Amino acid sequence: MPRPLILVTLAVSLVLLASTTVNAHNITRILAKHPQFSTFNHYLTLTHLAAEINRRQTITVLALDNSAMSSLISKQLSVYTIRNVLSLHILVDYFGSKKLHQITNGTELTATMFQATGSASGASGYVNITDLKGGKVAFGAAEDNDGKFDAVYVKSLEEIPYNISILQISQPLNSPEAEAPTAAPTLNVTAIMSKQGCKAFSDLLIASGAHTTFEENVDGGLTVFCPTDPVVNGFMPKYKNLTAPQKVSLLLYHGIPVYQSLQMLKTSNGIMNTLATDGAKKYDFTVQNDGEEVTLETKVTTAKVTGTVKDEEPLVVYKINKVLLPRELFKAVPEKKAPAPKGEKEVADGPDAESPSDDSDDQTADDNNGVGEMDGGRLALVALSLFFGVGMFV
Ligand SMILES: *[C@@H]1O[C@H](CO)[C@@H](O)[C@H](O)[C@H]1NC(C)=O
Ligand SMILES: *[C@@H]1O[C@H](CO)[C@@H](O)[C@H](O)[C@H]1NC(C)=O
Ligand SMILES: *[C@@H]1O[C@H](CO)[C@@H](O)[C@H](O)[C@H]1NC(C)=O
Ligand SMILES: *[C@@H]1O[C@H](CO)[C@@H](O)[C@H](O)[C@H]1NC(C)=O
Ligand SMILES: *[C@@H]1O[C@H](CO)[C@@H](O)[C@H](O)[C@H]1NC(C)=O
Ligand SMILES: *[C@@H]1O[C@H](CO)[C@@H](O)[C@H](O)[C@H]1NC(C)=O
Repeated sequence: MPRPLILVTLAVSLVLLASTTVNAHNITRILAKHPQFSTFNHYLTLTHLAAEINRRQTITVLALDNSAMSSLISKQLSVYTIRNVLSLHILVDYFGSKKLHQITNGTELTATMFQATGSASGASGYVNITDLKGGKVAFGAAEDNDGKFDAVYVKSLEEIPYNISILQISQPLNSPEAEAPTAAPTLNVTAIMSKQGCKAFSDLLIASGAHTTFEENVDGGLTVFCPTDPVVNGFMPKYKNLTAPQKVSLLLYHGIPVYQSLQMLKTSNGIMNTLATDGAKKYDFTVQNDGEEVTLETKVTTAKVTGTVKDEEPLVVYKINKVLLPRELFKAVPEKKAPAPKGEKEVADGPDAESPSDDSDDQTADDNNGVGEMDGGRLALVALSLFFGVGMFV
């Protein structure tokens, strides 16, 4: 290609690249700059509201900091219900801090994403914004607001007129209707598994609270790899060594948020993200086929798909013969076995980053690879949960 043509091609592709990325806002990325909103940010992702926000052209997010979120989380609502509550905090109109203080007649009802869900009746999908005297702006759910407001405007976090505005408010907006129990998906993952040789795994999901993430992903497509009962029972000593957030991550690592029929698995070698995948924490594994055999490789262990428990799109549950050990929690096994130095403190941050440890293939053996030596990983997770401010499923 002649040189000018290359330059033109380059320029055109740069323009194309720019036009596909420039106008899309990314709430997750914006809020990541504000660590004191990490819990709120986390729940926007968990409830899939982040994707909804990013899809909208004009939106205002009433953000809650970690301490305001903890009062919401302490109500122990299901993820579906938290989704409704948080969707009441997303206004489908643009309010910059300036517009807040210039509301005609000082008060206004504005529609929220909760209204758009169809779950809201009457005024319950609306938020009342009222400019109080002294420059204070108050917010309350429009539903049975009898002169009391739940929250006041604190500060503006980010404004991209007239695309997205993120405003901090002091407290969650209370709405009995948004907080009403929400119907869960009809396919009951834990019930299905507990009847089919996956009871031990199902029990762990329920005990850890991780089942809610599985349940709430069913509608959008979910593939679960369930280690069978004897496998889980043999793994229990190591499992008990994990901290609560590590247990949740390990369990979420066994689900992928898409429906993958056996046929699809057999024809698609490659990296799979899991329910535990979250930003820098990759928690992925590789699907590898050999003829009719489907294996899952995590760098620490290789599991085989041994059967199908349930295949009813959007849900499919397979049996596997090993617990999948993520390299974020367990030490990676190098391709070639070398003498194993004991007592290292670091956890592998990449496939080849760590020195060898015991062969972890036999998970029931009395070796002490992984959990016993993962101080670094535990530290990272503690840091992570501190970062989130509040544990995810406490
Ligand atoms: C706002 O969105 C519009 C349409 O999506 C886009 O053209 C514009 O560049 C965006 N503005 C900013 C400042 O990102
Ligand atoms: C938004 O940003 C987050 C964090 O930077 C990233 O993981 C995610 O893929 C982004 N989403 C989109 C739709 O680009
Ligand atoms: C503002 O108040 C005036 C008088 O009370 C009323 O006529 C008008 O409709 C109000 N405007 C809005 C936007 O509510
Ligand atoms: C908002 O709530 C206040 C207090 O209850 C009320 O006086 C005001 O009329 C409401 N605003 C609207 C637009 O309904
Ligand atoms: C699933 O079934 C179990 C009983 O096996 C029940 O306790 C649980 O509430 C059900 N979950 C949902 C979301 O319906
Ligand atoms: C559990 O952790 C302790 C202390 O870190 C360690 O000594 C023990 O070997 C671990 N047990 C298993 C089964 O990994």
